[in-house]
Amino acid sequence: MKTVTTVAALRQQVSEWKKAGQRIALVPTMGNLHQGHLSLVEKANSVADKVVVSIFVNPLQFDDKQDLSAYPRTEREDQEKLAQAVCDVVFIPSTDDVYPNGMTAQTQIIVPGADDILCGARRPGHFAGVATVVNKLFNLVQPDIAIFGEKDYQQLWVIAKMAADLNLPIEIIGGEIYREKSGLAMSSRNQYLTDSEHTQAADLYQILRNVKAQLEMGRKDFSEIESEAIKDLAEKGFEPDYIEIRRASDLALPNVDDTDLRVLAAAKIGKARLIDNIAVTGYNQ
Ligand code: PAJ
Repeated sequence: MKTVTTVAALRQQVSEWKKAGQRIALVPTMGNLHQGHLSLVEKANSVADKVVVSIFVNPLQFDDKQDLSAYPRTEREDQEKLAQAVCDVVFIPSTDDVYPNGMTAQTQIIVPGADDILCGARRPGHFAGVATVVNKLFNLVQPDIAIFGEKDYQQLWVIAKMAADLNLPIEIIGGEIYREKSGLAMSSRNQYLTDSEHTQAADLYQILRNVKAQLEMGRKDFSEIESEAIKDLAEKGFEPDYIEIRRASDLALPNVDDTDLRVLAAAKIGKARLIDNIAVTGYNQ
């Protein structure tokens, strides 16, 4: 595995691979890698000849400056983990490399609808920051395929829409949510939890599973199910942000005759804001 820290070295490597006709997969990350990230790297290996993992904590997508400065940076351990997994290049650019003209007047990619719902509505500008940096990483790495986790389901939707709307010649693939034994979705933010909060945090997934079970029993009173789930979250010690039932394909409000739904949730516990979601397939069938 090679560690590449400059754009020039990256371009050199990518052009050699392209000349040899190799398919490149990119897994963008902000580092502090866990098994969830590594499951995406494994998936990347199964669909491409060469795998690039980028590590870049993107200031443009943080609406809270404190969250940015507290974000865990563990580059050395990350490189060790990637060397164990199969990864050809880990790309760790500097902020100046990614934002050569600074961030104040940065051209940004706005994905319509992203800021109106779910996490977008709570974190103004977040998804423009994500779409902008991912577009830059696409231009730098020029991958054939890029892999994003379903853990950040709205993010995956934003990137897929950006790629389609801008005719990007890149296939966007989702990777399944990797969970701890308790059901808690792995996240770099889980380390903000105390031991008891960590145990409690697994209830978020249990509540999502319960919503799924209610839907599978044929209930169609979506708002009522959402309110019950919010109440459940609060009773279990969370500070609920949202639990919403959405159409899986485009995150629109669902109709009772939709078949593929997604239940998405965000809730705070202690210092951590956790997000998670669950698929409900074959609803109504
Ligand atoms: P980060 O939070 O580091 O996540 C990198 C990728 O790992 C994302 O695609 C995310 O959805 C995925 N991921 C995180 N936890 C996961 C889990 N438990 N199971 C499966 N996949 C998981 O998401 C970002 O970084 C940034 O917004 C980024 C896309 C890199 C742009 O800056």
